[in-house]
Amino acid sequence: PCVDEDSCDYLFKTVLIGDSAVGKTNLLSRFAKDEFYLDSKPTIGVEFAYRNTKVGDKIVKAQIWDTAGQERFRAITSSYYRGALGAMLVYDITRRGTFENLKKWLHELREFGDRDIVIVLVGNKSDLVDLREVDVEDGQKLAQLENLCFMETSAKDNMNVEDAFLQMITKIY
Ligand code: GTP
Repeated sequence: PCVDEDSCDYLFKTVLIGDSAVGKTNLLSRFAKDEFYLDSKPTIGVEFAYRNTKVGDKIVKAQIWDTAGQERFRAITSSYYRGALGAMLVYDITRRGTFENLKKWLHELREFGDRDIVIVLVGNKSDLVDLREVDVEDGQKLAQLENLCFMETSAKDNMNVEDAFLQMITKIY
């Protein structure tokens, strides 16, 4: 059921997770508003945005939640995940540590997320080719192992951002 003022057939809650500064807020602003900010500040608490997409002949409104990667700025974890049907798990291909930390995020997802939550793994900042610390194959392998969808994106160059969100939304649907 759709509880929003403008009409849609379905309303899906989805969440963005991953370490600080991997680009969660910019992936969201790219998808929701087609905007990118070079000097974006860390998120404090929770923000969210909506975007309607057509899946078949239905209109799906995705409500996408974005919280801080930094522990001290995060909102209450259980309420963040409550009712979420999809999660975009983001790391930064130029910082190996953000890839290593995916284990921690997957653990949290399994603890607080719905059992059937659709997870899309995203390696962001693919435009920074010379700074790459995580190979595409590493992302692919982890995705295979954990049974996740996988994509490399660039919020800056608008590469695969739409595809990553649409994959998540379509899979939920
Ligand atoms: P927290 O709110 O702290 O969790 O961070 P975040 O994951 O939301 O990261 P944010 O979107 O604020 O981006 C952090 C920095 O990375 C900013 O300076 C962005 O401009 C930059 N950034 C985000 N996406 C990309 C990208 O695809 N390419 C490049 N080159 N920079 C990016």
